[in-house]
Amino acid sequence: MNFLFIGDVVGKGGRSAVKSLAPELRREFNCQFCVVNVENIANGGGMNAKTLNQLLPDYADVATSGDHVWDQKALETEIHGFDNVLRPANMGENQPGRGYGVFRNAGGGDIAVVNLMGQVFMRPSARCPFEKVREILSAIPKNVKCILVDFHAEATSEKAAMARFLDGRVTAVLGTHTHVQTADATILPGGTAFISDVGMVGAERSVLGRCPDSVVDKFVSGMPRRLPVVEKGDIRLDAVVVSYNHNTGKATAIQPISRTISVGLAQ
Ligand SMILES: [Fe+2]
Ligand SMILES: [Fe+2]
Repeated sequence: MNFLFIGDVVGKGGRSAVKSLAPELRREFNCQFCVVNVENIANGGGMNAKTLNQLLPDYADVATSGDHVWDQKALETEIHGFDNVLRPANMGENQPGRGYGVFRNAGGGDIAVVNLMGQVFMRPSARCPFEKVREILSAIPKNVKCILVDFHAEATSEKAAMARFLDGRVTAVLGTHTHVQTADATILPGGTAFISDVGMVGAERSVLGRCPDSVVDKFVSGMPRRLPVVEKGDIRLDAVVVSYNHNTGKATAIQPISRTISVGLAQ
């Protein structure tokens, strides 16, 4: 069995690339189940019902998020209308939404998807992700063998430590947030697939999906600057395909993918 996981989707250009490329990737790699990180789909920051409905359920089964989850104010109420949209589980207990769920895989069986956020160089509101994931794993029914963890974090050390912590207990620990795909995809000794960061769906000529000149100016001047999302031109979709044993939930392969398409003015 295989599933497709797509990294942080940035803005309208990112959404267009997912719509264009996800169906063919799912066919090519025989992925019945698809998860996408959507924390940047609405104009580069956060998500809302309108943008979520463009991707779910036609292009992906479940959406995960991260530190930008509440950037769009409307989501605080809109998230209650989505069973398949997750926010990091280790955010405050009284925040809306939920951080994990068990979902039916059209290809067979169930898949648990867990969304966590790191504490290193991240917002201080995140509680300990290690304690939280231990609690979640004990609550997931034992008959659910495939467990996918999106660990939205900045530090590679924290992500690698989480992967080792969960090795043998989950199918995959997939890092998100940095928007840059790392070259360390591997299957750990206990059968957990791991990559520090899946990458993004955003403009090739950008800084993490945003206008390079503006980002450079912000750093050089030290002044606050608007950082427009690059919505057209070559958009790169970064993802991974994880293969796993249906009976045990152990991963057997992880394949990083990067595809680029041209998104025009009409988008
Ligand atoms: Fe993030
Ligand atoms: Fe992001």
